[in-house]
Amino acid sequence: MPTYNFPIQSKLPEIPTSIFAVMSGLATEQNALNLSQGFPNFESDSKLIQLVNKAMVSGKNQYAPMPGIFSLRKVIAEKMERLYNVSYNPDTEITITAGATQAIFTAIAATIKKDDEVLIFKPAYDCYEPTIELFGGKTIAVQLNPEDFKIDWQEVRKLITDKTRMIIINSPHNPSGRVLSKNDMLQLESLLKNTNILLLSDEVYEHIIFDGEQHQSVALFPALAERAFITASFGKTFHNTGWKMGYCIAPAELTKEFRKVHQFNVFSVHHPTQVALAEYLQTPSNYLELGGFYQEKRDLFLSYLKGSRFEFRPSKGTYFQLLNFKNIEVSS
Ligand SMILES: Cc1ncc(COP(=O)(O)O)c(C=O)c1O
Repeated sequence: MPTYNFPIQSKLPEIPTSIFAVMSGLATEQNALNLSQGFPNFESDSKLIQLVNKAMVSGKNQYAPMPGIFSLRKVIAEKMERLYNVSYNPDTEITITAGATQAIFTAIAATIKKDDEVLIFKPAYDCYEPTIELFGGKTIAVQLNPEDFKIDWQEVRKLITDKTRMIIINSPHNPSGRVLSKNDMLQLESLLKNTNILLLSDEVYEHIIFDGEQHQSVALFPALAERAFITASFGKTFHNTGWKMGYCIAPAELTKEFRKVHQFNVFSVHHPTQVALAEYLQTPSNYLELGGFYQEKRDLFLSYLKGSRFEFRPSKGTYFQLLNFKNIEVSS
């Protein structure tokens, strides 16, 4: 095995192992049930799998266009119109990506320069911080209150400086399952007024939302949408996380910058899956019924935990359910 014998100037010297790898390692070591992987253990809809097969057999196996196939971008635009009454141009404002992670990476790469400050809310999905740092940016972390994970907008206001370039929000939130309210969005709107701060809204759990809560997409708020990258994940939505398919929606000027990076880090993404998704999304019940589907699973899971020493607030969305183990003794 060749060995590299020169000093390494790591671009990310502080990056720890992902929490998913740590927890999965511990579960294997302790022979415990692993509930912390962040992906479902049931199959995707067989209709969708058949549509991918059909696209492969019918020869959709060469590069797709750089921004994604038009029929998929068009059906996403129609979905945005139907759900949020907002019109995005599929030609200039929607780009198909290799999962939301690539969309987030690309949005940050396209906009964050050395010494720019980016506000994130912690705990946060683990790709935000290293990506900001990779491009010379500085992460400004706002710690969420562990009791209810609510955002203290007064605290956020105090952290805004003339170097603040971007704020990243995520609702429904990984890992707390908290959903931002309309009031949260209005507070954010007032905070960003008269600034040139960009917004990255990670909406991968848009359809996995419970108890009648409404997803407050940034798209519903024109003063936010005009400065926002919205990132989404088909992998999360259709529980096929291994397919790594997603998209980014942003105003044309921002999409232009986004695509300058996108075309050189992936160029384009898996063609047959795009063809399949374009057809599958024609049936809105395929995504509109997901809230109920996952809520049943959450309720069943929590019914098993009732009477245990875990404390919890039912998650309002996402794949996640936090449990407080303060009543359980840890023997060292
Ligand atoms: C909040 C959040 N954003 C983005 C992603 C990544 O989505 P994808 O698998 O489509 O890259 C995840 C995955 O866990 C997530 O929880």
